[in-house]
Amino acid sequence: MKILVIGGGGREHAVIKALKKNKDVEKIYALPGNGGIAVDAECVQIGAKDKEKIVEFAVENKIDYAVVTPDDPLVLGVVDALNEKNIPCFGPNKSAAIIEGSKAFSKDLMKKYGIPTATYEIFDNQEKAIEYLKTQKFPIVVKADGLALGKGVIIAQNYDEAVDAVKSMMSDKVFGASGDNVVIEEFLVGPEVSVLAFTDGKVVKPMVSSMDHKRAKDNDEGLNTGGMGTIAPNPYYSQEIAKICEEKIFIPTIKAMNEEGRTFKGCLYFGLMITEDGPKVIEYNCRFGDPETQVVLPLLESDLLTVMQAVTEERLEEVEVKFSNKSACCVIMASNGYPSSYGKGYEINIPSEVEDSVYVAGATDLGGKLVTSGGRVLGVTAVEDNLKTAISSAYEKVQKITFENAYYRKDIGQRALKALTEDN
Ligand code: AMP
Ligand code: GLY
Repeated sequence: MKILVIGGGGREHAVIKALKKNKDVEKIYALPGNGGIAVDAECVQIGAKDKEKIVEFAVENKIDYAVVTPDDPLVLGVVDALNEKNIPCFGPNKSAAIIEGSKAFSKDLMKKYGIPTATYEIFDNQEKAIEYLKTQKFPIVVKADGLALGKGVIIAQNYDEAVDAVKSMMSDKVFGASGDNVVIEEFLVGPEVSVLAFTDGKVVKPMVSSMDHKRAKDNDEGLNTGGMGTIAPNPYYSQEIAKICEEKIFIPTIKAMNEEGRTFKGCLYFGLMITEDGPKVIEYNCRFGDPETQVVLPLLESDLLTVMQAVTEERLEEVEVKFSNKSACCVIMASNGYPSSYGKGYEINIPSEVEDSVYVAGATDLGGKLVTSGGRVLGVTAVEDNLKTAISSAYEKVQKITFENAYYRKDIGQRALKALTEDN
């Protein structure tokens, strides 16, 4: 089989490494991929949002199956365009991808179908939004409606900060048209859990839970980033919480999307907060999370391609989705200064003994040398019998990888470890 994977980050690298395990896979193309992915797939310089070129490439190269991983191409309808040419895909179509593409849509969906989430109001008018803020308690959360590279959420500590957030989105358009509408919602408190789930619109099979570390610095300080590390499973996701989530969130969401005529097929990401009143949805993503995928897929014991095809063919019920009982930890190595300004072009040295554990996010091949090209450069994952050893093993591997100005958090997994020890 010839497979096409759209995207070029650490998540795509993890997906590609998992797909390669299937014996029927002869060739994987990554569009655009990156210098590190090039070891595992043929990278083709077509952007993930370049719908026409993607379809043209897929048809010309007789692609048997396509996996569309990033949010932008999903929201733009790349799956629909490939399906029109009879190329089966993993990923939701455009009408279902709106669950991530519009926060206003997802909030209204949850309200309509009684799915637990923070209370909220949606505004298309700045004055009305500001009037509303005058009556609210703080902190409060201001969100741009559309996609904003994961940066469209501002937690405002007081009225002035909230007004600034609204103005920056609605007047200054810092997130472009994504800020035409804003969602203002209640600030929730509690540990966060990410759950990725396979669904074919009929059944939903959750993957092992995970925990992201979004802030740039240790102890969850510093700016929000695309994710500085992950662990799985997430100790806050007990069996009891999992049962509540299935009954009150996962199945109702799948049913709600069907009711709306927007059947979701692919990987649905539930960003959850475990509040005192039970689990609530913070956000939906219409795709695998990054860097959650880099800990979830290494724990998947079933064959990824088999599961993905079952999703596409709406027979997920028939296939087993099995995860190991082990734990995984992924540490992101970034270029110092990320997420603000950082240098690029530093040569990366990855010894062959750790290559299998590395998922490259931001690097290019410069005449045979791998050099950094992004803020988040790569992720290093270790899988061990328990979380403690997974963390130490991940950091041992990190020590073996070098590039100038490398920066990483030193405390990935520590909060989870503490939660585990407090439990016992
Ligand atoms: P996002 O960019 O949508 O992933 O959101 C970024 C982060 O903002 C989330 O991971 C949460 O930590 C936080 N967040 C979003 N909504 C809320 C909320 N209603 N209450 C508290 N924190 C929130
Ligand atoms: N890790 C969060 C995301 O993928 O959006």
